[in-house]
This record gives sequence, structure tokens and C-alpha cells, in this order.
Amino acid sequence: MISMKKLSLAFGERIILKNVNWLIGERARVGLVGENGAGKTTLLRIIAGELTPDEGSAETGVASIGYLPQDLARLGSGRVMDFLKDSAGLSRLSERLSEAERLISESGERSLELGRYLLDHENIEREFLHLGGYEFEPTARKVLRGLGFESGAGERLCGEFSGGWRMRLALAALLLRNPDILLLDEPTNHLDSESMEWLEGWLRDHRGIMIFVSHDRRFLDKMATEIAEIARGDITRYPMSYEEYIVRRDEERERRERVAAEQRERVDQIQRFVERFRYKASKAAQVQSRIKQLDKMEIYDTDPPSKSVNIRFPEAQRSGYDVMAARRIAKRYGGREIFSLLDLEIYRGQRVALVGVNGAGKSTLLRVISGAEASDEGSVEFGHNVKYAYFSQESAQSLNYAHTVWEEACGTGSAITEAEKRNLLGSFLFSGDDINKPIRVLSGGEKSRVAIFKLLLSDTNFLILDEPTNHLDMKTREIFKRALLRYGGTLLIVSHDRFFLDDLVNRVIEIRDGALYDYPGNYSWFIEKRESLRRLNDGEESAQPKDKSAVEDVSRADSRERRRLEAEERNRIYRERKVFAERIEILEARIKENEERLGKIDADLCMPEVLSDSQRVQSLMIERKILDKTITSDYTRWEELDAEMESVKRRI
Ligand SMILES: Nc1ncnc2c1ncn2[C@@H]1O[C@H](COP(=O)(O)OP(=O)(O)OP(=O)(O)O)[C@@H](O)[C@H]1O
Ligand SMILES: [Mg+2]
Repeated sequence: MISMKKLSLAFGERIILKNVNWLIGERARVGLVGENGAGKTTLLRIIAGELTPDEGSAETGVASIGYLPQDLARLGSGRVMDFLKDSAGLSRLSERLSEAERLISESGERSLELGRYLLDHENIEREFLHLGGYEFEPTARKVLRGLGFESGAGERLCGEFSGGWRMRLALAALLLRNPDILLLDEPTNHLDSESMEWLEGWLRDHRGIMIFVSHDRRFLDKMATEIAEIARGDITRYPMSYEEYIVRRDEERERRERVAAEQRERVDQIQRFVERFRYKASKAAQVQSRIKQLDKMEIYDTDPPSKSVNIRFPEAQRSGYDVMAARRIAKRYGGREIFSLLDLEIYRGQRVALVGVNGAGKSTLLRVISGAEASDEGSVEFGHNVKYAYFSQESAQSLNYAHTVWEEACGTGSAITEAEKRNLLGSFLFSGDDINKPIRVLSGGEKSRVAIFKLLLSDTNFLILDEPTNHLDMKTREIFKRALLRYGGTLLIVSHDRFFLDDLVNRVIEIRDGALYDYPGNYSWFIEKRESLRRLNDGEESAQPKDKSAVEDVSRADSRERRRLEAEERNRIYRERKVFAERIEILEARIKENEERLGKIDADLCMPEVLSDSQRVQSLMIERKILDKTITSDYTRWEELDAEMESVKRRI
């Protein structure tokens, strides 16, 4: 059981958790979700005891805790199997066991100590067996295989493994320790689908509490039985599956946005009213009451719509038409051939998605193309004036942790001014004090953002991107995608995120069984095409393409008709607007006239000759009352017309 009581934590001004109470029962499977920087990792670190909260506590009792950090774990440099044993505490035990055995064999049969040695041995062995003991190595090999390692990996050195594989090693160690509470921070980011399935199977048998952080929808949907959303310092719990949570959350968000939009509209309107009439002394009360209304309003807090952010990054000069040509490239690891004799050409302006099942060799191909790894054979050549940059998960890890965000951003993109850089950083969600944060404290998603920011800033005309959206929340993905859509250079990208690839790419290359298949179209077209090819292969009739010219004729006529209707609608709206504008003008003239008349009456009512005529005073008072009523209702009418006018404007 995990019991959080009045948990609060802030980093400077930034509140991460505020007075959180949460009791997590045995066997709970919690999907912890939230935007980048919301505090997911922070919460896991508090539970794991790595971080002390400002107030309150997170108690875990005597339960053992295993925490898989989001950042690459430190593994040491020894043999993999030794590392796994060490981490399970087995190495120490087996040393003690051998020592006990030595003592037993060295002491004579009648030695007085023998009894004690035997007892010691028994105790140590019991502990040893509890941890898997003699079964440990076979189990460890099973786990390594499940996580995608080749046989013999146990004998290799930890230091030989690169980024993603090191993270799998850390995961293997954690699973073998089999702790009561498992805290997994983005465990799926470095896994292919087979390993993921294996992991899901393994975790299903876990008996204790599990909390996962993941931006992977499928994984969360399969694994989590409840969702906890962390936002604005608070945790909201949803006792349901991830899919159900998404529906509920969207409904809730929609409702919040609707209320907020209505409120914004009202605020705008009051402001227009105040602007329009603030200098009319006679109506000071009307204006004042509205200003008070504004002050009293509790502004409804919603996330700002991300649509407003549109960033364009500086680009290098155009490259030549030929961007990259790979000839007869090949890659082998140990005895295993990933691909061989591959040819690939990419031309200027192409936005290429490289797809394929996991393990097909997508990342390897990108590493070879970008020169991060040498090809075993053949060559990779770049065309005239090509300036390329390569992004992979490791890019975020290889930032300088001692720098601040701002210092790191300054290292690149000499072509733009500081002010422009600041602006761009702001649009990329680092504003105010955030840019002075040291890289070392950034959340996983924030680090990815900095790495992507640097990449987009370095003057390039060819981007090679390997899974750039891992760690990124939806909002950041959107912004990044829009920046890429505006990018004028050439693009080669691996991503398992369909929504990201859709309408971003114009060519798809599939890598399958060591060969490349070219689909010169966008991503949906590729899916469709592949599906129909599959049907064809399965012997089914494929859908006959329609007569092309007929299709074009119909679509041309359609678009003419659409344009005509749009023009008609536009004209109608202009006419409506004009009518409203005229009405508002007439109304304002009447208000002005009536207010002047009111002023005149008030002045008259101060004059002695008027005051002495009681009949005159009475008729003036009656007129005054009527005028006052008319003016008040005219103001109300003004507001109505103003609102209608705004809604017509919005329809354009
Ligand atoms: N030591 C620190 N000093 C200042 N700010 C910090 C510190 N540690 C974390 N932060 C900030 O606290 C926020 C929460 O970070 P956390 O790593 O918990 O986010 P997260 O929800 O895990 O995000 P992501 O999805 O990107 O992994 C971030 O904005 C981060 O920059
Ligand atoms: Mg995190």
C-alpha cells in the first residue's frame, strides 16, 4: 500500500503537487498521465524515496520498491549477468554462501564450530533460494530474451550496449528483483512491439502495486486499471481504463472550454462596452458597474489553445536536387544480418517516412545514413550543399547537463538574433524563468524539447529523425508537427505515431525482410495501398480504380459549386453585418440625443425660475424618468446587437 498524505512540493514558484492525498491499494495498476513537466517523474521519485516532499509524506511501509527511471540508468561496466545478480543482491549472497561452504569443509568433523557454520549456511541458502537462487541465471536469460537480447548477451559487458539497450538492461534487472512496488517511468519508449508484448505478459503476473508513466496509448490501455491525471498541482483519479478515461477527459475538457469561451466572450463584450462609453460622464455608473463585474469575475482556467502557436525555424540555403544516395549498404550485428545491398535515393523536398515492423532495421538504417554508424559495405553520399542533422533518443541524453536551457539554445543557430531565439523558445513552451533552468532538472519531455529545438535551430536542409515524439505530450507533438510542416527542407523520419505522420510525409518507404518498398504518396495512401496489395496477395479481388477522368470531372464540378456557395454565404454575412452596423449606429445616435436631453433637464431643474413652476418641474421629472428608462434599455440593446455582430464576424 502507498499512502500519500497532504503531499506538497514546489520547485521555486512552480507548484508540482499541492496537498495531495492518495491511497493506493495492493495490486493497483495505475497509469499516471499528464503533460510534459506536470510532475509524473517527480511523484515517482518521491514514492521511491529519492526526493523529499516539502510537506506531507508518501509512506510505503516495509514494501520493497523498484523504480525504473525515465533517463538512462547507470549500469557500471561489468558483465551483464553479474550486473543482474548484483542488482538482485545475489552476488553478495553467493559470496557469503561460498565462504560458509569453505568454513564447513575446512573445519574438522568434530570441530566445535561446525554446528554454527552449518546453521549459518542454512540461513544464507534460504535467502539465496528466495531470490531465485540456482534458478537465477536461467530466469535472467529468459528475461533478457523476452526483452529482445540475443542469446549470449549475459556474457557481454554492460558498456557495449547503446542507449535503448541499456534501458532494457535496467528494466531486466528490475524485473528480476521482483519488488513489491514497481514504478516504471516510460518503460515502453525503447521497446519494440514484441518486447512490449512480452513485458505486458510478465507484468500481468506481478502481484504488487504497479504505477506506469507512458505516453503510449496502447500500453496504458492494456495495462492500467485506473488512471491518475496530474495537472496544475493536483491529481484527479479515474477508476476506469485508459480509453474510457480519454472519452471522459475530452468531454470534461470540452465542457471547460465551452464555459471558458462563454466567459471570454462576456469579458470581451464588457470591455467593448467600457471602451465605447467610458468618456460619457452621465453613464459613469453603467460603466463602473461593469468594471466591477469584471473585477469580480473568477477567470476560468483552461489550457491556452495550442492552435495559436505557429513557429517557423530558420533554414539553410536550398540543397541540390539530389539530397542523399545510399548504394548497396549493408549492416550485420554479430552473425545477424539486418539488411544488405540496399539502395535508396532521396530528393529535395521529399518528406519520407520509413516504416516497418519492429526489429526490421529502421533505426539502424537511419544511423548508417546519418553516419552515426558505418555501413559494412557500399556508400552513403550527400548531394550539393546538403546540411543534415540527425535526431534520436540519445540526442536528448547528450545535452550538456550543466548548461541552462538558454545556454544550450545559444550554442546553435547563429543566423538569428537573441530576441528571435527567445521568442522561438517561448513558442516552444520555455518561457519566463523556464529558460534559466539547468538541463539536469528538466523532465524527460522538456529535455526532448530542448534537443528538438536545437535541431530545428541548426541551419539544416535535411532532417533525419528517429522517433522524435517519444516523451512528448500531445500539445508539444502538435507544435512540433506544425513546425515540420512549415519546414522547407527534406525530411526522413521514423515514427510509430500515425497521427504524427499523417499529412506530414509525401513518400513512405517500408523496410521488410531486409528490402525496401517505395510508396510515393502520403501515409494514409500507403496504408490503403498496402491493404489492397495484401488483399490482392490473399487472392481477393482488389477494388477496381474508378475511371480517372470521370472522377476528375465530378470533382471539378463539385469544387466550382462549392466555391459558388461559399461566395454566396460570404455575401449574405456581409449584408447581415451591414444591417447590424446600421442599427448600432442609429442606437448610439439615439443614446447620445437622449443623454443630451437628460443633461439639459438636469440643468433646467437647477434653475430657480423652473423650480418655482411646480407643473413644469413635474413634467420634467416625468420626462426624465422616461428618458432614463429608455437610455438604460438602449444600452442593453446595444450589448445584444454588439454580441450578434461579433457572432456574425466569427462566421466569416
Ligand atoms: N530540481 C528541480 N529544480 C527545478 N525544477 C525542477 C526540478 N526537478 C524538476 N523540475 C521541474 O518540475 C517539473 C516537473 O518535472 P517532472 O520530471 O516530474 O515532469 P514529468 O511529468 O515527468 O514530465 P515528462 O512527461 O516530460 O517526463 C518540470 O517542469 C521540471 O523542469
Ligand atoms: Mg517524466
